[in-house]
Amino acid sequence: MPSSLFTPLAAGALKLPNRVVMAPMTRNRAGADGVPGALMSQYYAQRATAGLIVTEGVGVSAVGAGPTGQPGLHTLEQVAGWTKVTDAVHEAGGRIVAQLSHHGRIAHPALLPDGVEPLAPSAVTALSDARTAHGLVAAVRPRAMGPEDIARTLDDFSDAARAAMDAGFDGVEVQGGNGYLIHQFLSDNANLREDGYGQDVPGRARFAVEAVRAVVRAVGAGRVGLRVSPGTGYNDAVEKDPAPLYGFLADILGSEELAYLHVVEGPDRALRAVLREHWNGVLISSPFTGEAPTDPGTARGLVEAGDADAVSFARHFAANPDLPERIRLGAPLNEPDPDTFHDGGAAGYTDFAVHRPSAV
Ligand SMILES: Cc1cc2nc3c(=O)[nH]c(=O)nc-3n(C[C@H](O)[C@H](O)[C@H](O)COP(=O)(O)O)c2cc1C
Repeated sequence: MPSSLFTPLAAGALKLPNRVVMAPMTRNRAGADGVPGALMSQYYAQRATAGLIVTEGVGVSAVGAGPTGQPGLHTLEQVAGWTKVTDAVHEAGGRIVAQLSHHGRIAHPALLPDGVEPLAPSAVTALSDARTAHGLVAAVRPRAMGPEDIARTLDDFSDAARAAMDAGFDGVEVQGGNGYLIHQFLSDNANLREDGYGQDVPGRARFAVEAVRAVVRAVGAGRVGLRVSPGTGYNDAVEKDPAPLYGFLADILGSEELAYLHVVEGPDRALRAVLREHWNGVLISSPFTGEAPTDPGTARGLVEAGDADAVSFARHFAANPDLPERIRLGAPLNEPDPDTFHDGGAAGYTDFAVHRPSAV
């Protein structure tokens, strides 16, 4: 019998009761020091019926920090804040992994400690913006990473993964997509290196592979997922020929027995099929359905056809804390409110109602 969105799924050490995954969503509600507070605990606990919650991108280090309000996992205070979040999610019956992220050249000096420059594979400025306390500002020219920067950054990923375990997370998702540091190494336009971390497919995949392996050594493969966004061009990370690059990455990481691969699909649907073919483990899709949020019908079709093992929803989860139940019942969905995605407090964050079936 084909699987449905409500067939339980084993993804490494993670046991998902359903296949409706909450996609990572940067919501910028952490304190200035990147410490999650009570509002974030409430937000994630409200969404505990997701098969799996993937948190917003979480900074692995001060130099890799993202926008104002992004949480981190590199100080004891951040670990203490996250512990309350994971406790709240677990008490509500959920499972939660931390998305480990390094912004690389999308970081901005205004967001970094004094005098610290953004790091990147090469000194190439992104045609992209950074979100600061003063609004969106153009990215700056980053500093090309030397061997010591690379070694330290790999340690930052593994230290943050250990910190995630200390904070009670069920696992971690390595952010390899959306134009951030790992994706910058994978791309042709941000990675002009002439050493073993660039040039050809194995070179451009090397940093991604090393980052995943560093995290696996820290917490065990069964608790590690990887997110990629082949061919999407997000944040100006562009691959000329994504199919062989991501096929190689899937082949080489296939032997690691990770919990899952999370694919953000771009307009070229064939890339998901390439990954499905090369990846021997669990595949979660974040499908591209145009301007509209990922639609439950598309998700159902992907899982029932065996094209993906699970599907993640971002915007619908923002507006529908009980999304799996609404999908199961075919109940109407609340509309997401883009104005409150990245700013503010409870409004548009923790104040969405759950569905109440009308009395018959
Ligand atoms: C407000 C918002 C914030 C997002 N933040 C992240 C993020 O931190 N990390 C990430 O990998 N993707 C992020 N995404 C992308 C989503 O995870 C997802 O791939 C995309 O929104 C498509 O899913 P949807 O159609 O269900 O919204 C974000 C999307 C939105 C709308």
